[in-house]
Amino acid sequence: MLALMRFLSKLCACLLKRFKRGGGRGGGATDDAGDEVVDSFDIFFELRALQIATNFFSELNKLGHGGFGPVYKGLMPNGQEVAVKKLSLESRQGRREFTNEVKLLLKLQHKNLVTLFGCCAEGPEKMLIYEYLPNKSLDYFLFDKEKSASLDWPTRFRIVTGITRGLQYLHEEAPLRIIHRDIKASNILLDEHLNPKISDFGLARLFPGDDTHVNTFRISGTHGYMAPEYAMHGYLSVKTDVFSYGVLVLEIVSGRKNHDTKLSSEKQDLLNYTWMLYQAGRTLELIDPTIAKYNADEAAMCIQLGLLCCQQSVAERPDMNAVHLMLVSDSFTLPRPGKPGIQGRGGRWTTSSSALTNTNASSTLTGATKASGGGSFVEEYSRNSISVSSIDEGR
Ligand SMILES: Nc1ncnc2c1ncn2[C@@H]1O[C@H](COP(=O)(O)OP(=O)(O)OP(=O)(O)O)[C@@H](O)[C@H]1O
Ligand SMILES: [Mg+2]
Repeated sequence: MLALMRFLSKLCACLLKRFKRGGGRGGGATDDAGDEVVDSFDIFFELRALQIATNFFSELNKLGHGGFGPVYKGLMPNGQEVAVKKLSLESRQGRREFTNEVKLLLKLQHKNLVTLFGCCAEGPEKMLIYEYLPNKSLDYFLFDKEKSASLDWPTRFRIVTGITRGLQYLHEEAPLRIIHRDIKASNILLDEHLNPKISDFGLARLFPGDDTHVNTFRISGTHGYMAPEYAMHGYLSVKTDVFSYGVLVLEIVSGRKNHDTKLSSEKQDLLNYTWMLYQAGRTLELIDPTIAKYNADEAAMCIQLGLLCCQQSVAERPDMNAVHLMLVSDSFTLPRPGKPGIQGRGGRWTTSSSALTNTNASSTLTGATKASGGGSFVEEYSRNSISVSSIDEGR
């Protein structure tokens, strides 16, 4: 499967090469592992070609606007559809560092990750060019009463499993370990068969020393996916992503946002409400009422797993290897979760080069690493896990 993915990805890259700067160049050098090294010659798209593809970045072609800038749909002359993300935020990174980071990100390939085709760094603007996904992002489906009906239980379970595999790849298997830092429903894109693909992985690397944009606080003002230790102290580890993943799993099962002020006070906060139901033995009441039929064992497992991933203590959250094992193993008994942590939200955020400060969270820190500023952005991780040994798929 990996070989097929690589082949398809290279095929796309070859087709697109014609529209990149100086296109038509022959094969690149080869690294130790026998993979073609993506040199800077291959990764660039011409600004002119992107302007034409997106109808000069017209509003009609705009797919959305996130914390990094707008995203446009583009159609290349060979018929290939692309998504062009304009990075409108100030980055301290120069062109060379940006290019180096993009080269590294191009090495990340997995069926549950959005494929990055290349970048454009002509003039003041920097852009990333991705595969275009026709169904946009999970939030469009999940939080829309009509559209969410198309997400039946098998589809939701497949989405949970796909996100798990994508995140497991980023944390444990990729040539470059990536802490995503912004796992949420709008960063899960869906292909034509509603298979999930994680987007925006590695973007934090393009803005070293500026943690704030990653979570779009300036836009949303709230962020209910954030682990308490990261929200309060800027402590970053793979378990930061595990916390966000846990919140997302509960959103997928319940079909509602992690915080919804339109609901009664006991239901407003998804984590608190789930915990209350779990303690009362009424877990299945959480399930989205638009789901007509579901597998109760799978649904209960997802809810318990979601709570486990959102534990206050970093050490009590499973790592993604353990999560994957829990999902696919028939014989595995999930540990009982304790009370979940408080999400990083609703506090006052301050922009500093090294961390975020929130006024409303407390945390228990184990095995986490403080997110560092400047160029030495450390993507450390913790292998602290509850009980389960990791799966080695022969990487
Ligand atoms: N490759 C893509 N294919 C199709 N649609 C996309 C693609 N990438 C992004 N989009 C759409 O554009 C919207 C904006 O994406 P963007 O990543 O900029 O914002 P966001 O995910 O809401 O916030 P953040 O900046 O925190 O990631 C997404 O919600 C999605 O619907
Ligand atoms: Mg995004």
